[in-house]
Amino acid sequence: MLNTNKIRKFFPAIKAGRIVSNNAASTQIPVQLLDLLKKLSVKYDNVHRGQSDASMATTKEFEAAYETIAQFINAPSVKNIILYRNTTEAINAVMYSLLTEFKTGDNVVTTFMEHNSNYVPWYGLCKEILPKFGIKVECRLAKFDKNTGELDLEHLKSLVDNRTKLVCCTGASNFLGTKNPIKKIKEIADLSGYKQPSGEKRSYLLIDGAQTAPNIFIDVKALDIDFFVWSFHKMLAPFGVGALYAKEKLLLGMKPFLYGGDMIADGQVTPTKVGYNVLPWKFTAGTPNILGTILSAQSIRLLIDFALWPGKNVYFMSDKKLALADVKKAMANISEHEKDLMTEALNILQSIEGLNIYGPKNPSKRTSLVAFNHPQFSPFKIAENLNKMGIESRAGCHCATLAHHYYKLNPPASCRLSFYIYNDLNDVKKACLAVKKILTNK
Ligand code: ALA
Repeated sequence: MLNTNKIRKFFPAIKAGRIVSNNAASTQIPVQLLDLLKKLSVKYDNVHRGQSDASMATTKEFEAAYETIAQFINAPSVKNIILYRNTTEAINAVMYSLLTEFKTGDNVVTTFMEHNSNYVPWYGLCKEILPKFGIKVECRLAKFDKNTGELDLEHLKSLVDNRTKLVCCTGASNFLGTKNPIKKIKEIADLSGYKQPSGEKRSYLLIDGAQTAPNIFIDVKALDIDFFVWSFHKMLAPFGVGALYAKEKLLLGMKPFLYGGDMIADGQVTPTKVGYNVLPWKFTAGTPNILGTILSAQSIRLLIDFALWPGKNVYFMSDKKLALADVKKAMANISEHEKDLMTEALNILQSIEGLNIYGPKNPSKRTSLVAFNHPQFSPFKIAENLNKMGIESRAGCHCATLAHHYYKLNPPASCRLSFYIYNDLNDVKKACLAVKKILTNK
């Protein structure tokens, strides 16, 4: 279990009295990272672009950040980690990097429960980009069960065939909260028989980890995932950095998504030939978000410290390699805490007559968010009233527009509460009882 009492003390936003309950969108920054930013602000310089002590020290910290990020998901090495601005950009990077590999008759399979970031790039590829080159590729959508919020694996299986280049699926839905069975989805992708350019016969698997990485331990090696993407602003870091994990052999064969500085091998630019840098820099064009990267890696270290021994800096600002057992235990503690919060949230919300609560009924099958609608109240009105009562929610489609249309919601919207490691049962009670008050006046 988490020691929320201790954890809360490190968050200025919580100390200011806010009930932060829109964490599926973005989490809050702890004081340790704010202090670190202040410290870095007097000693940083650009990376890989200077001979000063400042540049070399910053480069060392920047490169060490990649080690931490790789260790967090048990990636074989830093060569597997490419950093972008966010999850959306990372998915677009995969789409653009694979662009030249698609052939007429291929398809991409994704699902009705995706964030738009894991559907619209594939829509764009199939409907707008490839047709311009005379290539016809289909985008297929797997259904989910409207009552349980669970992915329809049989339907997914029926869509995947020997022309499925890629299966793209969220690890957990940002609207339903459903945690998806990655192992089973991987089995389906593996059996497709699609002939990849490398000679491998299977579909690639891309997992959108935006709602997964902050809450659940993901072992990319054990799960044998091809592409895994997530953002750090949903796990305590400031905005601006998202990660792409990809298998090294895929990255070696893929075209860069962004062309320009630092993705080029030293001196290898001539009018006829450009040589690319080694991994991961082959995919890092232009000056990266250096401070954001360092802070993102430290947010991982801090998250593990918070989840295991709050107040003690074992990993934060140390060179210590992340022990896999500690990452696993820390993430298990976070998952357990979130299950307790969701048990309380569902108990209260289920007592509200007429309330439609989306997603699994069993709290252990969901991440720490819950979305709902009431037939007599607009979700936007509920959110506005919650705000007046000091509760921060989000109303809208949460960028899971397909899923809202799937329920035939008009407007395609719901009201959502989402919690994180600094939320306690008291926050959940206050938030859910406020929903009850708005809807029933009780
Ligand atoms: N994708 C984020 C959310 O779920 C922004 O709110």
